[in-house]
Amino acid sequence: MDEETQERIVSGNEKDDDKSLDFTLRPQRIEEYIGQDKVKDNLKITIQAARQRGDIIEHVLLYGAPGLGKTTLAHLIANETGSQIRITSGPAIEKSGDLAAILSNLNEGDILFIDEIHRLNKAIEEILYPAMEDYALDIIIGKGPSARTVRIDLSRFTIIGATTKISQLSAPLRDRFGIHYHLDFYRPEEIAKIVDRSSRILGVKMDKEASQTIAERARRTPRIANRLLKRVRDYCEVKGDGSLEKKMCLKALDMLEVDSLGLDWVDRKILGAIIDKFNGGPVGLNTISAVTGEDTATIEDVYEPYLMRLGFLDRLPRGRVATYLAYEHLGKEKPKQSNLI
Ligand code: ADE
Repeated sequence: MDEETQERIVSGNEKDDDKSLDFTLRPQRIEEYIGQDKVKDNLKITIQAARQRGDIIEHVLLYGAPGLGKTTLAHLIANETGSQIRITSGPAIEKSGDLAAILSNLNEGDILFIDEIHRLNKAIEEILYPAMEDYALDIIIGKGPSARTVRIDLSRFTIIGATTKISQLSAPLRDRFGIHYHLDFYRPEEIAKIVDRSSRILGVKMDKEASQTIAERARRTPRIANRLLKRVRDYCEVKGDGSLEKKMCLKALDMLEVDSLGLDWVDRKILGAIIDKFNGGPVGLNTISAVTGEDTATIEDVYEPYLMRLGFLDRLPRGRVATYLAYEHLGKEKPKQSNLI
């Protein structure tokens, strides 16, 4: 396949293709939601307490890596509280007037979901402060010395903010969320259950071994698991009778170039470059970028976190180092003399 145009199947970021899939497979109620037990336990209490008080729930901040279910949870909270949900995102709100219009159209108890909230611009963020604290909009009328502020009351609502980068959220905005939930990577057995559930919804026949095979390669991320399931299903429909069993799944995953730990060709290209060209490292990020043709920020934010989580890569002050585990996984001979940790 052409490397430039090949799309990454194991990226947690949402692709157009995922949208309809996410919608069909998304759990609607808390009982159907698999994994994130701590978040679910806390959420049940919050919802129940608000219900008993006849109140709305506090503003909720969801943070965690792409594809772990932040949007799904926001929809689920709306279902469980019987609220209307409006969806927007940080980059979609370009002018203060856009946000003012959205906020003034909310009804009592509505939920406003703001995805990628860390990408809201500063001026717009400041409109949110009185809106979140006092359910009010402060509008400046006029210019110069005659300018004055008029306060407009809003209905009481809940903001659910989602971010993959909590460190990029300003402290004042972060502090205005009463509830913070951190979504962590799922356990492999939870991902296997999600694959099972999705296959039932999609009407795909598959056995336990097959769901485990897909789960092992899904980087502990439901969105990737569901995407792999769909691609494997396509393969099995074309090459077999449509039922998924381990052998066929492995062939499909092989064709998709996703290996036994969920690494794809870009991950392998990065590790391969460090090992083959720099004797395992340490090697600087800019050099890796030049050698692989991948952008430095993408290497840092997208590829390295998973490689580090697997213990295949370490970031040292002098640069990146491939570990013995990486050599083993790629079937490379370990160097006699190296800086390996
Ligand atoms: N589909 C995607 N994420 C899910 C989850 N956490 N539980 C059940 N189905 C899902």
